[in-house]
Amino acid sequence: MLEVLKIKIQEYLNKRVNEEMNLSLSLVVENPKDKTKGDIAIPSFQLSKILHKSPMEIAPLIKNYLEELDYFEKIECVGPYVNAFYSREKLIKLILDNVDSIKEKNDPKGVILIDYSSPNIAKNFSIGHLRSTILGQSIGNIFEYLNYKVVRINHLGDFGTQFGKLIYAYLNWGDKEKVMENPISELVSLYVKFHEEAEKDPSLDDKAREIFNELEEGNPKYRALWSSFKDASLKEFKRIYDLLGVTFDEYSSEASASRDSNRVLSLLDKKNLLEIDNGATIIRIGDDIPPAIVKRSDGATLYITRDLEEIHRRYDKYHFDQMLYCVGNEQKLYFNQLKRVLKRMDAPFKDSVTHVNFGLILTGGKKMSTRHGNAIGLNEVLNESIRLAKEHIQEKNDSLDDKDEIAKNVGVSAIIFNDLKNYHENDYEFNLEDATRFEGQTGPYLQYTSVRISSILKQSDFDKDNISFELLSKDDFFEIVKKLDEFDVILEKCKEEYAPNYLAKYLLQLASLFNSFYSKEKCLVDDIIERNTKLYLIYLIKSRLDLGMKLLGMKLVDKM
Ligand code: ARG
Repeated sequence: MLEVLKIKIQEYLNKRVNEEMNLSLSLVVENPKDKTKGDIAIPSFQLSKILHKSPMEIAPLIKNYLEELDYFEKIECVGPYVNAFYSREKLIKLILDNVDSIKEKNDPKGVILIDYSSPNIAKNFSIGHLRSTILGQSIGNIFEYLNYKVVRINHLGDFGTQFGKLIYAYLNWGDKEKVMENPISELVSLYVKFHEEAEKDPSLDDKAREIFNELEEGNPKYRALWSSFKDASLKEFKRIYDLLGVTFDEYSSEASASRDSNRVLSLLDKKNLLEIDNGATIIRIGDDIPPAIVKRSDGATLYITRDLEEIHRRYDKYHFDQMLYCVGNEQKLYFNQLKRVLKRMDAPFKDSVTHVNFGLILTGGKKMSTRHGNAIGLNEVLNESIRLAKEHIQEKNDSLDDKDEIAKNVGVSAIIFNDLKNYHENDYEFNLEDATRFEGQTGPYLQYTSVRISSILKQSDFDKDNISFELLSKDDFFEIVKKLDEFDVILEKCKEEYAPNYLAKYLLQLASLFNSFYSKEKCLVDDIIERNTKLYLIYLIKSRLDLGMKLLGMKLVDKM
């Protein structure tokens, strides 16, 4: 609102100046660093140069135009500047109406595809996949809130020669029951066993390759096995998604992209981009970057071939305005190659692709890994967080009845918030104890603040049409009103930079403003108007906190 208002004022000023003096200027309204100088300031240099008058002579002219608007309490000319102070009461009314209004849904502003999570079948769901899941989910929520159509895609890594090895290992040493019970850890150990055996007997590698080729050609027995591995893995991944509350609109598959890849390969061929190099098919994309290999000498497709095919399929289906890939920093070069190939192809969507890259999660300065040979590592992290949350809840409020459910929501949200409060491109150090604390820069702190507000609101009704704007104009109150107003600007910034951390930081500031407000001000006072005013204000804080947490992908709790 404040920003919006500033722009409105700027537009008004330019319209007036230009029409009266027959100019086409664009005067700029500034935000003075020193707030005692005014809420906005307009320098008069630009106009003074054109009119050949001193800035001091021009300032009063500008002041006159501003006076035509009724937003201000005071407008001063200070040397070459015009400084204006908003009338707090008018401003507050504008802001609160805006914060409390329901956003109308217009036609979507665009179609945003987000490729996130995207784990590999029969392998661990790594910490990196977790970070991708959390980040992609939140970016999707933010775009959706800002009225975009969002399509969430989970691109499964279900292709590769390792499936030949896996099938061989399963047929020779596998135990169906065990695999069904604990698919990922069993499949990972079968894979490990294959490598041990192949050390002793290298002919196994040829056998595995043969199986893989037959799998690609559609051997029904192999396909059935591959597909059962895929189902079993997905079942395990879905446990994590359920815990996080994540769903997808579509699952895509590297294997099917590989099967369809002749389409994109012939497109590339038509554009004369393919070259044979040592038997492999490559595309040169510049001297500063290695060429993209799209076909190996044995004819097999590569990761990039499958992504190239898949993005064409996605464009045909959705005509997206943006295609976002939430994948770790280690694939930076790869996504540069992908974008270069799309440029060389002159694909209609060549400028709409973004790699939303993210850093590592560290413990003790080293890359955190859940590699115990299975996916349990990650579940362990989540479960440990839930356990710690439960401990904290017991300390605070042992009489709650649905502690387990609350602990689950608090523990999982703690991990989500702990991740999103960090700027995604950076690495960060993971400390579960810190993440689950009820005080400090944590998810539980936000949830706890929201619960505190609920419990105040439960004690009394309020009438929001009977409040005091004079009271809201007092510094402590006004501070909060301005913070509430920032919400929209913050979300735009999150959207522009694909960076939910700005929202996370904002929520922390809002929560701490509430907490210091509440330590000074009693809300349930006898004076009706004062009570209405205070309760309405904290009600608005809670609604912003709750909305913000939801956009981050956190769970709301009503007790804790
Ligand atoms: N499965 C890949 C991995 O785990 C990530 C895939 C990301 N998405 C994509 N379209 N390349 O590294």
